[in-house]
Amino acid sequence: MVANRRRPGPLRPDVGRFVHGFRPARPRTSWVPATEAAQPVDSGAMRPIDLRSDTVTRPTDAMRRAMAVAEVGDDVLGDDPTVIELEERAADLLGKEAGLFVTSGTQGNLVAQLGHLARGQETIAASESHMIVDEAAGHAVIVGTSIRALRERPDGTLDPAEIIDAFRDPSDPHEPITGLVTLENTHAHSMGQPLSVEYTATVAAIAHERGVPLHIDGARFFNAVVAQGVTARDLAGPADSVTFCLSKGLGCPVGSILVGPKDFIWRARRGRKLVGGGLRQVGILAAAGLVALGEGPDGMIERLADDHRNARQLAEGLADLDGIESAGGIAQPTPGRLDPTRVRTNFVLFKVRGERAAFLAGLKARGILMVEYPHGAIRAATHHDVSAADIPTILGATRDVLDEMAGRTSLAAGARS
Ligand SMILES: Cc1ncc(COP(=O)(O)O)c(C=O)c1O
Repeated sequence: MVANRRRPGPLRPDVGRFVHGFRPARPRTSWVPATEAAQPVDSGAMRPIDLRSDTVTRPTDAMRRAMAVAEVGDDVLGDDPTVIELEERAADLLGKEAGLFVTSGTQGNLVAQLGHLARGQETIAASESHMIVDEAAGHAVIVGTSIRALRERPDGTLDPAEIIDAFRDPSDPHEPITGLVTLENTHAHSMGQPLSVEYTATVAAIAHERGVPLHIDGARFFNAVVAQGVTARDLAGPADSVTFCLSKGLGCPVGSILVGPKDFIWRARRGRKLVGGGLRQVGILAAAGLVALGEGPDGMIERLADDHRNARQLAEGLADLDGIESAGGIAQPTPGRLDPTRVRTNFVLFKVRGERAAFLAGLKARGILMVEYPHGAIRAATHHDVSAADIPTILGATRDVLDEMAGRTSLAAGARS
């Protein structure tokens, strides 16, 4: 993903151990069988508050327990019962006929394109979408298709009139043939805006009237579900296929799921094989997914509301700090102060007055990790491993860094004059 492109180097275990902001890792002992040989995996080393992405979450104890006892088979031969259960559960949750476990969101989008498109066709997509910007041009390299990029609006949507206009003329032999429309929900670069059921239905109708399917890159689909208080079925309903990630806010170590009609999933399964994504005893990973999609205290869907609350609280605190500014562009079109009401899911995007790299380094030295984001912005993403109690710590460290940077700036200015 884009934010990880310039990922900070690995934290040296000795750096920041005694610095403000670091806190002890939760000891991971409860899932370990009580044998003499069993040792805790993580013995309480200090770890940072990591806001770089929601992909940094570590599996919960319930997931680790489920993984340890998962019943498995050979999924390439079609007989891993745990992954079959997960695929069926995901398909049912989103109201589709079938599901397919894939290694990542990128692979889900790729095999969805392989399932929907023929070489020489074209996809209509948002110009700042992950599929265009951050998937190594898989559409061109592997699927053999082109992309018609449309500029998205600050609410993460594409203008329906522009979508209609972007369809090619299938009777003209010069033109590519439009074969797919995609949306990203939540839409990352607009500060994680969730797209509504009504909007999805509008775009689906435009696509379907022209005989073309709609695919949703729902890497954070359940954030969109929870933020809008709708059901996954309702939000997925108008689309032909949806990819969602287990390994982001849902906290699983690996994996995404693609859902859609049976014949499409069969083609996507072939595509997954083509790109080397046929896994064997994958029930080990699927077991974590079943915990994440489950109900009750171990389920990871409803708790996404906590991440959204924490992100909003963080944005409100940041907005009051001198030196924190609007991210600009589709993340926040209004200049000036960071607008916390832009935060509707788990992303906070902003700019900092002064040097971005120095700001991020200052935070890192205090045990807080954020990441560079496109157009000069910074992203802080909340997730399962960031608690409400961490927010004041993050804000305190941010204030310290900004003060330090302002001090340096005025010293430098003084030296020049
Ligand atoms: C919107 C969006 N789609 C797809 C992906 C790809 O997911 P993965 O990193 O699992 O390949 C990401 C990853 O960050 C994403 O943000």
